Amino acid sequence: MDKKVMLTGLQPTGVITLGNYVGAIKQMVINQDKYNSVIFIADMHSITVPQDPKELHENIRSLVALYIACGIDPKKNTIFIQSENEYIANISWLLECNTYYGELSRMTQFKDKSLKHKNFTSGLLTYPVLMAADILAMDTNVVPVGIDQKQHVELTRDIAIRFNKKYGETFVIPDVMISDSGTKIMNLVEPTKKMSKSSNNPKSVIRLLDDEKTI
Ligand code: TYM
Repeated sequence: MDKKVMLTGLQPTGVITLGNYVGAIKQMVINQDKYNSVIFIADMHSITVPQDPKELHENIRSLVALYIACGIDPKKNTIFIQSENEYIANISWLLECNTYYGELSRMTQFKDKSLKHKNFTSGLLTYPVLMAADILAMDTNVVPVGIDQKQHVELTRDIAIRFNKKYGETFVIPDVMISDSGTKIMNLVEPTKKMSKSSNNPKSVIRLLDDEKTI
């Protein structure tokens, strides 16, 4: 029997943190033999907020290296850059036309990020639909993520169920995979917030490339 598909992605917005490792990468490594595993670089998601193009380019390369250094075996996983798969943006548009503004405006991450950026883009609002396209395009069965992304995977399920009802069986309905521990590693300075790789305060995070002294 064919293996089920496990898929996740991370944004190339700086050196990944302990939170990213525990929330997503570790689960991919543990389960890579059991599933047909796919891990990608979510560069299209990262440009929903302003990025320096040169830095972004470098971060994409170093994130692939970090995946491998963390134990993602390139022989067992498909590793790709999101923007190089042109179907994803196409499918995203089809899904957008089957997603309601109300659903997107209720997403917790959108509410938080739109407060942080004065002139936020429409991409920030439609971000979860692009995520649904990533997941549904690959017939994904399970999506390992931290708790902050759970709501987006649940929305993906809602969109897929709606689409299948309207147009006939098209998409596999994915399940979220949340680890038993470390689903939300907290910020070390402001412990009510999650640890985030885009944080400006080096004291708030442990990054995977930090040396012992820095940690
Ligand atoms: P990103 O880059 O923000 O985070 C990557 C993964 O790390 C998890 N994570 C955490 N887990 C525990 N504690 C934390 N403090 C912490 N911070 C981050 C996130 O939950 C995520 O699993 N939208 C996604 C990228 C994405 C994606 C997808 C994921 C795009 N398309 C399709 C899965 C499937 C994101 O922002 O990841």
